[in-house]
Amino acid sequence: MSNLSMPSADGSAVELPARSGVKPHERRRFIWMVLITITAVYFLILVGGTVRATGAGMGCPDWPLCFGQFVPPTQESQLPPDWRVRYADRGYDTADFDPVKTWTEYLNRLVGATIGLLAILTVLAARPFRREQPVVFWSSLGGLLFIAFNGWLGSMVVASNLRPVMISAHMVGAFLVQMCFIYAVVRAAGPQALLAQRITSPQAGQTTQQSPTLRELPSWFRSLVLATLAALTLQIFLGIQIRESVDLISRIATDLTRDQWIEAIPWIFEVHRSFSWVLLGLCLYLMFRVYQSPFRRTRAGLMAALLVGFTAFEMALGGALNHLGFPLIAQPVHLLTAHLMFGLLWFLYAVVSPSFSKAQSKNSKTMDLQHV
Ligand code: HEM
Repeated sequence: MSNLSMPSADGSAVELPARSGVKPHERRRFIWMVLITITAVYFLILVGGTVRATGAGMGCPDWPLCFGQFVPPTQESQLPPDWRVRYADRGYDTADFDPVKTWTEYLNRLVGATIGLLAILTVLAARPFRREQPVVFWSSLGGLLFIAFNGWLGSMVVASNLRPVMISAHMVGAFLVQMCFIYAVVRAAGPQALLAQRITSPQAGQTTQQSPTLRELPSWFRSLVLATLAALTLQIFLGIQIRESVDLISRIATDLTRDQWIEAIPWIFEVHRSFSWVLLGLCLYLMFRVYQSPFRRTRAGLMAALLVGFTAFEMALGGALNHLGFPLIAQPVHLLTAHLMFGLLWFLYAVVSPSFSKAQSKNSKTMDLQHV
């Protein structure tokens, strides 16, 4: 049986030990499949954020059809004759038909449907893991179920006429989806691939691949990751409250221009803004500790560095919303970056979780590689 290889944090190929049961090509196929699905989920978050920021949420006033049609109309003449009456409660008693908004929302639905298919393929690719690593299969299935649930919630968002609380529930669903898939891919790839680093001994001229054991991290490191995750969750919760306020302000206070929205947001905005410094401090400290440990040159080190970069970027985007008149582009990107931060932290947590630690102790600490 040939071994599975995966790029390590320094870019070199790392051989994964072939385990009985799941064949290397099945493991590789699953890892690729789940990575494609996760990437598509992030793309959907960006598209969904754009739908909201551009006010295209009611571009299709019904679900799953759009103006009662499978392929949405491009001009008013293609709408049903009674469309103003039929969709009056969705604002179309006065609102004009806007094909750009309609097609933006339709694209959102197409991407959502594609993700549903990708998630089904991911679960099928996870089937070989059922006996050897059932957690990989069940996490993938969980991801698929949350996608289905979130698709249903999406229809409820439309049915509720974009009620802010429904939008928030829809967003929480997206977090659950990524949690399931990230956990599945971490467990499928295993410690050997994720924590491997190549060490070249100058004397012997030989390259060995080492995986530092999780026991080499301070005992409280896991608590630090959890505390940072909790702080990020709180920050996201605050962000959701602000988003709900912004939605209300943009609907009710129609005399305000975008650059005046910030002043109308309640005190929670100041808390959200200040708390981002606490979060940045936690992420920096986390990176500092990882860089002081043998995990510096592993994927965990890379993720910790990325986390700090994304946090700084997220704060800059928040600053743009605050000081540059609420630019439209910053809204979906601020949302996406929050999800990416969460994904990175969740990845780190999955790597230091007790079950991963157990999986690591089953594997040998060092594997000799061929000369390179
Ligand atoms: C790193 C820290 C931050 C995180 C993780 C974060 C996260 C979030 C999240 C998840 C939302 C909800 C977005 C949505 O549902 O569309 C949000 C909204 C918002 N955040 Fe932040 N944020 C951070 C920092 C900041 C900072 C520093 C500012 C301002 C100086 C800021 C200003 C805002 C504003 C104005 C909104 C409402 C955006 C909208 O309605 O589209 N954020 N934030």
